[in-house]
Amino acid sequence: MKKAPKRSARPASGTPEGVSLNVRRPSFDFGALPRYWCGGNPWKTHFGTALMLVFPSGERFVVQGVRRYRKAITDPKLAEEVDRFCAQEGFHSREHGKLNRLLFARGFAGLARFEKLQSDTLKLMGRIFPERFQLALSASIEHLTSSFGHQALSQREELEAMHPVARELLIWHAIEEMEHKSVAFDVHRALGGGQAARVAGLALVVPMVLVVTYAIFLYLLAADRRLFDGKMWKAELVDAQLANLRRIRAGERAIGLFTALPRDVAAFLRPSFHPWDLDDRALIADAASYDPIAELARRGVANATPATV
Ligand SMILES: [Fe+2]
Ligand SMILES: [Fe+2]
Repeated sequence: MKKAPKRSARPASGTPEGVSLNVRRPSFDFGALPRYWCGGNPWKTHFGTALMLVFPSGERFVVQGVRRYRKAITDPKLAEEVDRFCAQEGFHSREHGKLNRLLFARGFAGLARFEKLQSDTLKLMGRIFPERFQLALSASIEHLTSSFGHQALSQREELEAMHPVARELLIWHAIEEMEHKSVAFDVHRALGGGQAARVAGLALVVPMVLVVTYAIFLYLLAADRRLFDGKMWKAELVDAQLANLRRIRAGERAIGLFTALPRDVAAFLRPSFHPWDLDDRALIADAASYDPIAELARRGVANATPATV
């Protein structure tokens, strides 16, 4: 018989005052997205694409992990956040799914196989792992997506170099990952879930994300006939990393979405850790008024598909 979840009578939401989960519902037109949407740089474009490819199935997995416990949440603030979290992830999944289909049609048909493999793996995890552990996995996955979101929003120069549609897609997604970053964690904690399960979840999820991202990245380089482009490898693995070292020595932040991963994984291991220990409020200070489609219009970029709100 299925064990009933433990109920919590005390406030369980750890989202700080002043942060609200805004469900923005943009609809992007990706038709004008150039082949190398990340500053004309194939390496960065293919790496970003590889990471984004797994979002729709990953988002369905985390929503499923959290939503099944919705009725067990007694803190009204957290219950409302669960609804908004599910809505935000639903729109992320829809927009990234549209982008993925465009990439399949643009000659990267092999991506569809990677997407299916990822989706089948997550479905299998949904069948073999206990539901409570799937919730711990959701909390771990959300820790990673908020780490990537933090990095993306911190690197304004990289964002400015992107094609406007890709930039607003990433800013929108990153802001909402920040806003809802503690929801899955708070639900797991409110139902009596412990840190050991969340750390076990992270130990499973981090290698999966690294293997899947780099496998897709190498496929994209090969499909684009750039796998043996020695000049590009030297520029990205030697020159760019030396530049990162100089930045770190100067007390600046290293460029790259994975560069904060060791710090953020280490933080997650602390017994008293809560996602808002890494305070992102300054990064999303203007988030409440942010509308990606309005931002595109403000910058003079037409988005053929109007926003749905
Ligand atoms: Fe998301
Ligand atoms: Fe998320």
